[in-house]
Amino acid sequence: KKILFTASECTPFVKTGGLADVIGSLPQALQNEGLCEVRVVLPLYDEISSEWTEQMEKTADFQVQVGWRSQEASLYELKHEGVTYYFIGNDYYYTRKGIYGYYDDGERFVFFSRAVVEALQHIDYEPDILHGHDWQTGLAVAFAKIFHPGNLKTVFTIHNIKYQGLMPHHAFNDLIQLPLEHFGGFEWNGMINCMKSGIFHADKITTVSPSYAEEIKDPFYGESLHPLLRERNADLSGVINGINAEDYNPMKDPNIPVNYSHSRVKKKENKEALQEELGLHVNRDIPVYIAISRLVEQKGFHLLERILDEFLQQEVQVIILGTGEYEFEESFKHLAWKHQSKMATLLKFDEGTARKLYAGADFFLMPSKFEPCGLSQLIALRYKTVPIVRETGGLKDTVQPFNEITGEGNGFSFTNYNAHDLLSVMNYSLSIYHQPNLWDKLIKNVNKSQFSWKESAKAYAGIYSGLTETETAPEE
Ligand code: GLC
Repeated sequence: KKILFTASECTPFVKTGGLADVIGSLPQALQNEGLCEVRVVLPLYDEISSEWTEQMEKTADFQVQVGWRSQEASLYELKHEGVTYYFIGNDYYYTRKGIYGYYDDGERFVFFSRAVVEALQHIDYEPDILHGHDWQTGLAVAFAKIFHPGNLKTVFTIHNIKYQGLMPHHAFNDLIQLPLEHFGGFEWNGMINCMKSGIFHADKITTVSPSYAEEIKDPFYGESLHPLLRERNADLSGVINGINAEDYNPMKDPNIPVNYSHSRVKKKENKEALQEELGLHVNRDIPVYIAISRLVEQKGFHLLERILDEFLQQEVQVIILGTGEYEFEESFKHLAWKHQSKMATLLKFDEGTARKLYAGADFFLMPSKFEPCGLSQLIALRYKTVPIVRETGGLKDTVQPFNEITGEGNGFSFTNYNAHDLLSVMNYSLSIYHQPNLWDKLIKNVNKSQFSWKESAKAYAGIYSGLTETETAPEE
């Protein structure tokens, strides 16, 4: 089977979030399992470094109609680790700083989506399935369905339903320009909605965890699209993300001071190195809690902000790594100033520092308000760091709360989005940490819970073959 992925970001070329990690690793996983051939189409942003652009080969120029204007598109090709990537360039839309955040982001992805479908005529590859990811490619799925009815099947994956790509309704006329009968497939609550367009037109809809697939049918999580998702329930499913277990590997990771597999002593050596580097009190027996994330509301920082001061009255250490909203940056900076030897706030993001934190910490905090899948709790587990999460989406599907009686569970969790529920579960985790026999059981469970792509790749392959193998029902 031949699959063509399309998305707005992909490691190692360009990344703002977990979406890039998935697009950068799922195609390889599908190919390595011998399940299908996957190629990927991406926009050619200025952001992409010359290390990559120098290796690209230009293979075509073509025109793309965006409303009344005909736009130039250039197609480039690059092979990297067994996967062929196509990049679509345009001087007007992509030669800007960064990758999102422009007043005309909607138009930029109308262009991209249209170009993806046009590009099918200029590439030496005939996909059976176009697989779009998130709102930026919702229209590509819609155009594929409308321009290639029948022979090209479509899958649309929701990585985060909060971001939908909204435009005023006249964008249908100004930018999309299809016969009026199609308007209903693009419009939602009076706006053109790219996420809705993808969901509406796709043959199959997936999201990145089974729990999130259920949650988004509910108004609290559905961001107004829950009625449509309920309608499409029969075609909606959840497949949990994996991580690249070779890359995230504490046995080989060159970023961390001491490589380890199951040795708790070596993990503690990483802790001491970390405490030393950050000016915290150096003591391998003090439990270290970390959070590594964009500092945004989704990730539950409102909860942490309220309880950290109280939590830090005990013998614990807390480290926060990431950048984001001003409110959070300021309040975590303040807390770190107040609790000098116990807390560090690093307002930056770099992969090397992140790895040192995963390796040196005992607990990983992720009290998200909602979480389609979440990758960092999986990385934490890989580095034998115990996750503390809220029971939502992918967090609920990957972290089972520790049960002292049965000895089951690989982390800690709480249900309600409430700061004191978080505090009490953090205090509980601390008490388990100080009971060696229970801590031992917990860590053994953590060692066993690993999430690679293997199973998930099979689940995607199953969805693909379901789509390409079922004959259309004979007409009566
Ligand atoms: C989005 C979601 C996150 C998910 C990632 C990759 O960033 O917020 O939960 O893990 O996409 O699917």
